[in-house]
Amino acid sequence: MPSQTLLLGQTLSFVADPFADGPAAARHDSAGGVLVADGHIMEVGHGADLRAAYPQAQVVDHGQALLIAGFVDAHVHYPQTGIIASWGKRLIDWLNSYTFPEEMRFGDPAYAADIASQYLDLTLAHGTTTVCSYCTIHPESVDAIFTAAQARGQRIVAGKTCMDRNAPDGLRDTARTAYDDSRALLQKWQGVDRLSYAITPRFSPTSSVAQLEALGALWAEHPDCLMQTHLSEQIDEIAWVRGLFPEARDYLDTYEAHGLLGANGLYGHTIHLEQREKDRLREVGAALVHCPTSNTFIGSGLFDMAGLVAAGQRVGLATDTGGGSSFSMLRTMAAAYEIGQLRGTPLHAAQLLWLATVGSARSLRLDDRIGNLAPRMEADIIALDLASTPAIAQRSARATDIWEAVFPTIMMGDDRAIAATWVAGKRLV
Ligand code: GUN
Ligand code: ZN
Repeated sequence: MPSQTLLLGQTLSFVADPFADGPAAARHDSAGGVLVADGHIMEVGHGADLRAAYPQAQVVDHGQALLIAGFVDAHVHYPQTGIIASWGKRLIDWLNSYTFPEEMRFGDPAYAADIASQYLDLTLAHGTTTVCSYCTIHPESVDAIFTAAQARGQRIVAGKTCMDRNAPDGLRDTARTAYDDSRALLQKWQGVDRLSYAITPRFSPTSSVAQLEALGALWAEHPDCLMQTHLSEQIDEIAWVRGLFPEARDYLDTYEAHGLLGANGLYGHTIHLEQREKDRLREVGAALVHCPTSNTFIGSGLFDMAGLVAAGQRVGLATDTGGGSSFSMLRTMAAAYEIGQLRGTPLHAAQLLWLATVGSARSLRLDDRIGNLAPRMEADIIALDLASTPAIAQRSARATDIWEAVFPTIMMGDDRAIAATWVAGKRLV
């Protein structure tokens, strides 16, 4: 029998969707336990009961910390780690001034490996156990993040970012090499350990029709793969797309017409959608990914969480590092809350925590394995200290229920709130 570990603390898990059922969708136990063996969750229950039932288990007592599933960040650019918080530009200028020069460096495998390691260590310290990352056009950048994740036992998704126009020399592939390199990387990494591949056209302004078609063909050959891209992030970008694709009905059509709209598609940002785009995304069951710190940081706009969820869209939550200004899903939940407030539709703490775990896992089609505390799920678990700073502690001390206790950490917490991060049953932080 594999060795068993019993984590004790407060526990919070979801048995339903808080957008449908409100906070009753969550189960909280102020003296709970999670029994882990062989990298998986065996049982979630009352701490004392589990202790009595499994006397041989090694006990790790997290005290009053809140045990929840590790955060799932559904849209990141790990190569932008070094240029996070770069000042004063909006999307297109930001890409040209900061992003593309930095991404150019990832042809060097040693540099890519160094940033990949740094990125995963930073995000684990912030309680994020799964990311879905863009890489750069260089296959080396994909090998680097998968190798680093494999060494840490992490479940991640990543893909080579394809661009064959409107990008500088040294940062363009072609329709042919995008297809060939993506296919080779997919065959190399898809399903290896906990890793999976996402076909990744950056966005339609940086791909020719030939490249979009080549990647659409690759997706048709591997329909179980995820496909990630950007959609309708800034007004200037949408006008640019209209000029580049005069025959397209709208921005989404630049993907749809070339085989890049589907149930396993992930569309980042989706702020300024037209009705036809919303209808098609919902009909095919695609996922929209909300990136709130990015949307405020580079001035993109206010995502309509309440309207899109009510209309039946599948939505994930993400940092979009480094267009996003943080590695922290706590900070990201806070920004989602603030954007909800600006739209007159504040999100409940249960909805925010659900988005950062189950919701994002669902957007990646991984919710049967990660994103919740439940038997048979993979044991990616974090312990949240709900009193990690004096400012947070004085507020949570007045709480009368778990939501009031956790909300100050959502709004004001950072990596100091992450008391422990467990990946596949091993403590990494
Ligand atoms: N659109 C195309 N590329 C990017 C990127 O790297 N970050 C963001 N935020 N938007 C993009
Ligand atoms: Zn992005």
